Amino acid sequence: MAPALLAVALAAGACRPRDKEPPQAARALREFTGAYPLEARPNGTVRSFDIVAEPTEVELVDGQKLRVWAYNGQVPGPQLRIRLGETLRVRFTNRLPQETTIHWHGVRLPNAMDGVPHTTQRPVQPGETFVYEFTPKDAGTFWFHPHVRSSEQVERGLYGLLIVEDTAPPPYSRDVVWVVDDWLLDETGQVFPRFNTRHDLAHDGRWGNVLTVNGRTDTVLRVRPGERIRLRLLNSANGRVVMPDFSGLDAKLIAVDGLYLREPIDPAGFELAPGNRIDLDITFNQNLAAPLPIVDRFSARRPNVLAHITTEGEPVTPPAFASPARAHVPAWSEGLHVPEHHAFRLNARRGGPFGIEWTLDDKAFAGHSAHHEPALTLTSGRFYRLRFVNESARLHPLHLHGMFFRLLARDGTPVEEPFFRDTVLVHGNESVDIALVPTDAGSWMLHCHILEHAEAGMMTLIAVRAP
Ligand code: C2O
Ligand code: CU
Repeated sequence: MAPALLAVALAAGACRPRDKEPPQAARALREFTGAYPLEARPNGTVRSFDIVAEPTEVELVDGQKLRVWAYNGQVPGPQLRIRLGETLRVRFTNRLPQETTIHWHGVRLPNAMDGVPHTTQRPVQPGETFVYEFTPKDAGTFWFHPHVRSSEQVERGLYGLLIVEDTAPPPYSRDVVWVVDDWLLDETGQVFPRFNTRHDLAHDGRWGNVLTVNGRTDTVLRVRPGERIRLRLLNSANGRVVMPDFSGLDAKLIAVDGLYLREPIDPAGFELAPGNRIDLDITFNQNLAAPLPIVDRFSARRPNVLAHITTEGEPVTPPAFASPARAHVPAWSEGLHVPEHHAFRLNARRGGPFGIEWTLDDKAFAGHSAHHEPALTLTSGRFYRLRFVNESARLHPLHLHGMFFRLLARDGTPVEEPFFRDTVLVHGNESVDIALVPTDAGSWMLHCHILEHAEAGMMTLIAVRAP
């Protein structure tokens, strides 16, 4: 079912190359045809949800009372599940002591629904309501979070999942979500109340002292032998990168940042940076001898247990079907030969409201000012290669709103990832080449998803205009 869903062809001729483009770019554009649909296809069904953001107390971590900011009183927030073709309508009410917005991370949607303050909408003031309504163009695992003072608002607990199911979802025994987050708690066990500290800004953002999956330190996934699970992981942390180790299981990586892969691959070594999602296809062919710890190995010296999996109960027959992968993902093997359209330089300097500013091309984004000039203007339906040159020693998971891209190279060495992304981790002093074909007009943000870096300036706008 997946290939048919994803292989909706681009309208013929919609991506006609321009005469002055190099032949490699024209070929790359032809290769892109059919990767994902240009337009949403609303089927007439509207799915309505109410979401309220407000301060509350929840039993989190190990059951103690934690004062958080939450969507509908839960952390992680509600899981919104719709099917591809359905229209999502969210009546959002802000009961926080600050203005806010909701950004729908990874979703290709109309620019006005993207939740970027002062760019796509007025921030939602305390007491106000705003209606978000759109029809996603893609099925997959997406999430939502504020785009105002996000280093504080996300850290306090504001995030939820948007799952867009295929029109005919593959018959997994179960569909399970793991939201990975980490919390910086103070001596009283509450969220450390100072945000954007010098320490966080000088390092890789705010890394916590408690690592949770679905808000708990003791998450156990209990499966019956023979079950076949779709496990969706989101990293909603402000700064921490995790590399979950599923070795010892029959686990395949089938989707990254929402979209299916060209072919299922081994998930080993995938760096799940803040903002990233992965979907795994796991079949439990036999009983696990003991509860299996799923360990984060991002730091080789300090592995962390994320959660456990156990098998128990009566065996079932695994549902038999091909993993939903086989998406049309262009190889773009000549992509590196297309001249780069722009190289962004990533760096830090002294100054700004927090004492340290993070910059793109020596510019720090002033988060609360009303008007911003785009750093780049791209034309939809054209092929672009962009480069990120990290002149700093810190990590920068760069996220682009409203479109997907493919990683082409790290430090000039070609990387063949059979999938698109919306967030890529750029390591210290590394340069990364990506390629993309923008499909939707509007003002889209490019920013570091280490939220302290973003708050301290590492954000910019990319304008996409119709040809
Ligand atoms: Cu998940 Cu602009 O962010
Ligand atoms: Cu960063």
